[in-house]
Amino acid sequence: MKKIGVLTGGGDCPGLNPVIRGVVRKALKHDIDVLGFRSGWRGLLKNEHKLLDLQAISGILHRGGTILGTSRTNPYHGEQEDVQSNLNAIKQTFESNNLDALVAIGGEDTLGVANKLCQDGFNVVGVPKTIDNDLSATDFTFGFDTSVNIAMEAIDRLHSTAESHSRVIVVEIMGRHAGWITLHAGLAGGADVILIPEQPYDLNEVVGAIKRRYNRKNFSIVAVSEGAIEKSADMVTQDTEIDAFGHVKLGGVGEILAKKIEKQTGFETRHVVLGHIQRGGSPTAFDRVLGLRFGVKAVELILNSDFGKMTSLSGNAIVAVPLADGVGTLKTVDHDLYDLAKNFFD
Ligand code: F6P
Repeated sequence: MKKIGVLTGGGDCPGLNPVIRGVVRKALKHDIDVLGFRSGWRGLLKNEHKLLDLQAISGILHRGGTILGTSRTNPYHGEQEDVQSNLNAIKQTFESNNLDALVAIGGEDTLGVANKLCQDGFNVVGVPKTIDNDLSATDFTFGFDTSVNIAMEAIDRLHSTAESHSRVIVVEIMGRHAGWITLHAGLAGGADVILIPEQPYDLNEVVGAIKRRYNRKNFSIVAVSEGAIEKSADMVTQDTEIDAFGHVKLGGVGEILAKKIEKQTGFETRHVVLGHIQRGGSPTAFDRVLGLRFGVKAVELILNSDFGKMTSLSGNAIVAVPLADGVGTLKTVDHDLYDLAKNFFD
């Protein structure tokens, strides 16, 4: 092994820079050069890269986002001729740079592409990333802990203003199909109702819980995932446009829910959308260490020619699992955990 590439794809996530640091530091120990490709798969298609030497990765450990930039470009999107021309471009990039292998750091979409590229003959390993924590085959993804802490702090802060004004405050938290961030932040922050995509909610039950609580408290906090769905209603989306991986833009459920709660309870209600604040800023210590460990492991996989695998946290060990296991099905919040959370409602 002489030269490898690394890229970050999909939504950014606190902890990406520690992974890059782990990859480069480990690679340099084995005299392997690392090229960082710009903006996810787009950089590989366009052959846009920079050499990641010690100087390039200096001072990045605590920084949020990704020094490589990211995009939701999908080389397998489009007609068959488009896909073939993308694969040719990627082959050209590998050959012209004498790349022995590539580390793809990303979520379900990016790792799905990594898996397909492996099947198409490229040497690729993956590192799972998402604040949503919804990737299968790993106990946790880095970024999740940071997001939960940001959302928890927001809930903490909302308590005092909700109480001062005797209001209900609905806080909308990220999570398209999995409510991990909402559930953990809601539990840790002491939300009075937690609504997640996995458990379609009954508005009457939400209203009932808030009214019951008003017998002893003059305020309530409702934590709702952006992908939460009211029973017999559709998911709330901002528009109908979809991206290259087939996702619609979510958002708006908090506002709609707040209006309904105010109407049905008569209590003054406000809503807050945490949005991308949950993805910005410094990673927590947990996410930094997990990122570094994943980065080092990814290079070990390459050194062993163990392609088609992704790094994974299993208990306290970093292990390798097939990419296909990580991207097959989403890891969603199970009933038992949600039932536990219900002990703290109202
Ligand atoms: O997948 C991570 C995530 O932050 C989701 O929680 C959210 O729905 C989505 O990305 C937002 O995407 P974008 O940054 O493209 O608006």
